[in-house]
Amino acid sequence: MTVDAETFRTAPLDERAASEIAARGLELRLAEDEEAELAWRAAVGRGFQGPELKERSHEPGRPGTAYRRRLGVYDADGALPDLPVATFATWLSELTVPGGRAVPASAISSVTVAATHRRRGLARSLMAGELREAVRAGLPVAMLTASEATIYGRFGFAAAAAAATFRIDTQRAGWLGGDVPGRIDYVSREDARRIAPELHERIRLRLPGEVIVPGPHWDDMLRLRADAEAAGAVRALQYRDEAGEIQGLAAFTLDRTPPGPGTLNVIFLHAATDDAYAALWRFLLDHDLVGTVVATERSTDEPLWWMIADQRAAEIKLRDHQYVRIVDVVAALEARRYEAAGSVVLDVTDPLGITSGRYLLEVADDGAARVRALTDGEEAHDLPVLSLGVGELSAIYLGGVRVRTLAAAGRLRADAVEVADTLFRGAVTPALTFWY
Ligand SMILES: CC(C)(COP(=O)(O)OP(=O)(O)OC[C@H]1O[C@@H](n2cnc3c(N)ncnc32)[C@H](O)[C@@H]1OP(=O)(O)O)[C@@H](O)C(=O)NCCC(=O)NCCS
Repeated sequence: MTVDAETFRTAPLDERAASEIAARGLELRLAEDEEAELAWRAAVGRGFQGPELKERSHEPGRPGTAYRRRLGVYDADGALPDLPVATFATWLSELTVPGGRAVPASAISSVTVAATHRRRGLARSLMAGELREAVRAGLPVAMLTASEATIYGRFGFAAAAAAATFRIDTQRAGWLGGDVPGRIDYVSREDARRIAPELHERIRLRLPGEVIVPGPHWDDMLRLRADAEAAGAVRALQYRDEAGEIQGLAAFTLDRTPPGPGTLNVIFLHAATDDAYAALWRFLLDHDLVGTVVATERSTDEPLWWMIADQRAAEIKLRDHQYVRIVDVVAALEARRYEAAGSVVLDVTDPLGITSGRYLLEVADDGAARVRALTDGEEAHDLPVLSLGVGELSAIYLGGVRVRTLAAAGRLRADAVEVADTLFRGAVTPALTFWY
């Protein structure tokens, strides 16, 4: 049974993490009240090398970081004892998995350790503690987006969804996407803020790797926070179909130093229909005084690439993006759907010991799976065995990273690569449309 968001947020701190931290003369606490929250956010800002925090980031009544479980490590002997020397946040979210469904997930963010306290194992203690907390809460997975790709593999995370950055030369691109009915209109950023969550809720289950966008992230993307720098040239567009239904929303900024053509930076583009997708992209690519369109956090399998006449007008860069860490193999693997029937034994190793063991995965003809942990010495009926770390299992979980690719890379061993590859492969390439 999964907990509700508030129970998860306020659950007692992991005792082992607290005592490891206490052994270093420091204290682990939740930053609960308003003063503590401000100091905690100041520490996060410092950790990510941002400017000093001077004012509140959210108007009264806006959620701010209230939805987060905010962990802080405090050093009573420091010159600023109320400012945590390490920060870590989690919240209850949902991760879309193959089959148009979502699993409850612990989202992790704001992981910082002050430069004065780094490399003493604080991040390790906090991460291990919160992964154990996710297990206690009955969550199948944890997830995060990372500042550096080299930090989280050691804790069993892997990039299960990559992100593509498209840089398109609009003079060269051309358009093969045809004409679509419906209309595009500018909307105010406030209206976009109202439309975005509802539209995103309608579409997030179609895209493995996508998660619930926390409200304040929309404020950030649309530059609506109280402490946001000048909104600049943020513009928002809606697309309505012929029936007048809003089916798409995009936000972007424009950079231009006259007299040259400028760059249009897509902040987000969400479309509930193919028409909305085509209409919005066409509008953005065909914008006066723009020579380049840049869109980040796009899918690596973006239809857009097949809508431009000159594919070399697009430079496409790949990056690791959505990191996933399975903490309950049975619940996680039973939650997703599979494209083929078959059975395999998973022999999983886990650097933190959370999921280590052998599991029998049996997928029926309808794509539903039954999974159970095998007891010590239990026979597996000569089924093929897939031997892998929990990171590799997490990588293939969303169906976008191929078993055969990881086998060729030497990252896992499979008795029957074809069987496991066909089983785990997903119908939709996973992606995640924002950072959290
Ligand atoms: C990344 C950060 C949180 C690590 O904190 P820390 O307390 O110094 O980390 P720990 O001492 O617990 O190190 C844990 C392990 O991670 C490794 N590690 C830590 N930071 C690393 C980094 N930036 N790159 C690669 N490995 C790193 C350590 O070597 C250690 O490895 P080991 O235990 O396997 O030997 C800290 O350096 C930081 O605040 N960086 C700036 C903000 C940031 O990028 N945060 C991450 C947001 S996603």
